[in-house]
Amino acid sequence: MAVMSVAGRPGGGSRARAEPADVIPMLSRHVLTDGYDVVCDLTASTGSTIVDARTGTRYLDLYSFFASAPLGINPPALLGDPEFLTELARAAVNKPANPDMATAAYAEFVETFARVLGDPELPHLFFVEGGSAAVENALKCAFDWKSRHNEAHGRPAELGGRVLHLRSAFHGRGGYTLSVTNTEPVKTARFPVFDWPRVDCPAVTFPCTGAALDAVVAAERRALAQAEEAFARHRHDIACFLAEPIQAEGGDNHLRGEFLRAMAALCERHDALFVVDEVQTGVGLTGSAWAHTQLGLRPDVVAFGKKVQLGGVMAGRRVDEVADNVFRLPGRISSTWGGGLVDMVRSRRMLEIMESERLFDRAAVLGSDLLAGLEELARRHPRLLSNARGRGLMCAVDLPDRALRDEVVRLLREREHVLLLPAGERALRFRPALTIGAEELAAGVRALDRVLTHLVSPESLVPAEPEAAEKASPPVTATQEKGPL
Ligand SMILES: Cc1ncc(COP(=O)(O)O)c(C=O)c1O
Repeated sequence: MAVMSVAGRPGGGSRARAEPADVIPMLSRHVLTDGYDVVCDLTASTGSTIVDARTGTRYLDLYSFFASAPLGINPPALLGDPEFLTELARAAVNKPANPDMATAAYAEFVETFARVLGDPELPHLFFVEGGSAAVENALKCAFDWKSRHNEAHGRPAELGGRVLHLRSAFHGRGGYTLSVTNTEPVKTARFPVFDWPRVDCPAVTFPCTGAALDAVVAAERRALAQAEEAFARHRHDIACFLAEPIQAEGGDNHLRGEFLRAMAALCERHDALFVVDEVQTGVGLTGSAWAHTQLGLRPDVVAFGKKVQLGGVMAGRRVDEVADNVFRLPGRISSTWGGGLVDMVRSRRMLEIMESERLFDRAAVLGSDLLAGLEELARRHPRLLSNARGRGLMCAVDLPDRALRDEVVRLLREREHVLLLPAGERALRFRPALTIGAEELAAGVRALDRVLTHLVSPESLVPAEPEAAEKASPPVTATQEKGPL
């Protein structure tokens, strides 16, 4: 660790220098360092391989910065494009206040977003930094809408401040989102929250046939009855129903389109907006721009974040029934930066690449192979693995309990050098970059197979040299990997 003089450079000054071995001790003096015990080498890491700068250890990355790096690390298409790097540097030297000061870079990003991810029926866009702020602005839109809608119909404008939502939802850790997040208690305990109506989450168990289907249909009926009851109890006071199309952090809980569409119909009947949180599911992970389209949903507001590189909302449909909505009346929702310009420049180029490489279609194809691999693994380890599920690359499996799941995550990281995320009570979730290679995914499944085999008979786990990361191939383009899709 050192502080170096940079006197020879314009402006002079001193800058801190961190050698790889210093990084975590340096950080831990001031910030909580409870993440991976890895110092990411930002030069050597590439695609779906994260290299530890201290040791050179290579990890197969099946988590992609919590599903936020659509093209993996150091995508060659970005790194090898001097024109893009110049644009990025120009945007990065400043941090303009986007809502008040227009730039060409801002306009080009918005235009590209609308082309690649937009929905003509959701024409209003709003940008902010982070997924939690995205969801909170979606909620503000709904509160404002409901209050004005009440007023226009001769009802009290003070009503309309409640959010109907699901158990085991995760929507972030901000002032409003804490009240709708209810996964692990440590994330919400001791913080003041609103007492907003919450209904059971009728998660699907796979394969969803026979008794499993009957059970989910019964659970959906109960949840819909709870929702009806909430609307009756809080007359004119529920602004919206908010849900992730697939609950991610809560355990990769899949919901049937039938259920979500019934909730949307209920919202329409009770003059509440239908809001989906696509912060984790959005931008190709499930095999299309948004998961909600695959479920046949027509939301009024969609919150996004992560792979977009910044947060935000797109809105329309019933929002426009109220003339002075938050997208029309200045000052109702805004922030200094309105999403960072440097993130917008990176996002624009990433979206162009996702579009030209057809990475969403590719995620659908690769994801079905991954799911088939996980289903096969569940057949081979019936006592350990169950409920293999997935949409696109958003795949998951269940272990029997939290302790075993946590042990699998640990063994994968320490012995196999594979980074895979837990979710909910006992799930393992795959969150690879959209550019991951088919062989890398297969290597991840083989690593999981070895760990499960080891759990049954510990002496069977031989590999001193983890195969998955060592053999991880360099990032590939969609066309190289799978042929034109
Ligand atoms: C569905 C969902 N909503 C909201 C958030 C919050 O996003 P952020 O951590 O960027 O605030 C997350 C984060 O994981 C998420 O998965």
